[in-house]
Amino acid sequence: MTASTDALRQAIVEELAAAQEPHQVEEVRVKYLGQKDGAVTLLIRGTDYSALSRDDRRAVGNDLSAIKTFAEEAVRDARRRVETYAARQRRRGIVDLTLPGERVNVGSIHPVNTIQMLLEDTFRSLGFIVEQGYEVETEYYNFDALNVPRDHPARDMQDTFWLDNGLLLRTHTSATQVRAMCKHGTPLRAIFPGRCFRYEATDASHETSFYQCEGLVIDRGVTVANLLAVMQALLVQVFERDVSVRLRPGYFPFVEPGFELDLTCLICDGSGCRVCKQSGWVELMPCGMVHPRVLQAGGVDPDTHSGFAFGLGMTRLAMMKYGIPDIRLFDSGDWRFYQQFPATV
Ligand code: DAH
Repeated sequence: MTASTDALRQAIVEELAAAQEPHQVEEVRVKYLGQKDGAVTLLIRGTDYSALSRDDRRAVGNDLSAIKTFAEEAVRDARRRVETYAARQRRRGIVDLTLPGERVNVGSIHPVNTIQMLLEDTFRSLGFIVEQGYEVETEYYNFDALNVPRDHPARDMQDTFWLDNGLLLRTHTSATQVRAMCKHGTPLRAIFPGRCFRYEATDASHETSFYQCEGLVIDRGVTVANLLAVMQALLVQVFERDVSVRLRPGYFPFVEPGFELDLTCLICDGSGCRVCKQSGWVELMPCGMVHPRVLQAGGVDPDTHSGFAFGLGMTRLAMMKYGIPDIRLFDSGDWRFYQQFPATV
């Protein structure tokens, strides 16, 4: 610590201790940390490193960054102290009308919840029912009933969290499809939003837990054209703008034919980034016509009825809609992230 920073520290401590009101703390903050001519700011800005030896440069740099942190923390502490002091005065009936009002922290709505509410509203308006399903599922509903072969790689221990009692954490919301068919019969128009789990390595676009919204429509004479019409209506609602999509053939054991619906990456507008793995496209939604074996498992006759299903990644949708570049932020617990979302929908 140099003599000048030492003196600064002392002055900051003394002046903050004397402050009784929030505006006085603010005055001290501006005096020392103000962007334009705060004493600490000027000291940092005015230091000429070129005149110093290498060792001195490091020492001075450390010293300056320490004084800045010290001042910031002291201001934060003082602010807290005078704010509680002000609150105490108020409780005693002493009201200082010149004080700014106390900010009420109402929190904010998690972006995935916002997406879920939006989807539920949109689908309800199209006549769909909403079911939650179960996060802890049986192997039967998660795999067998969906025509996922016993030797399919998705059953591999690496993808599924198995519980000691033989149950599992659902790997997708498709697990609710056959349950809903058995429960409600046909015609059926339903979505199943909820949390899913995968035992896999995490990166910017993969997490061990994420949210999907499954959709299922079963009736007489349902075709791919119905599937496309519903998807179109949905994307316009969600993104409130025109978005490009493309349909590719995709393989999923529970649909035939199966498709992948891709969306232009809204983070980089198609030019390529970390989230879209430089391709300009993100897989938004696998979908397809429900496989006859799945219909049968749900007690539906494939000769008279057909249907389509889709698996929307709600977490991915939220990333696209709000331009969130890393999936790990969602469950980070970092208030700076959540704070950026509104408190109401
Ligand atoms: N359940 C699949 C997954 O999580 C996604 C999926 C694919 C759902 C095709 C569907 C579908 O409804 O038709 O990987």
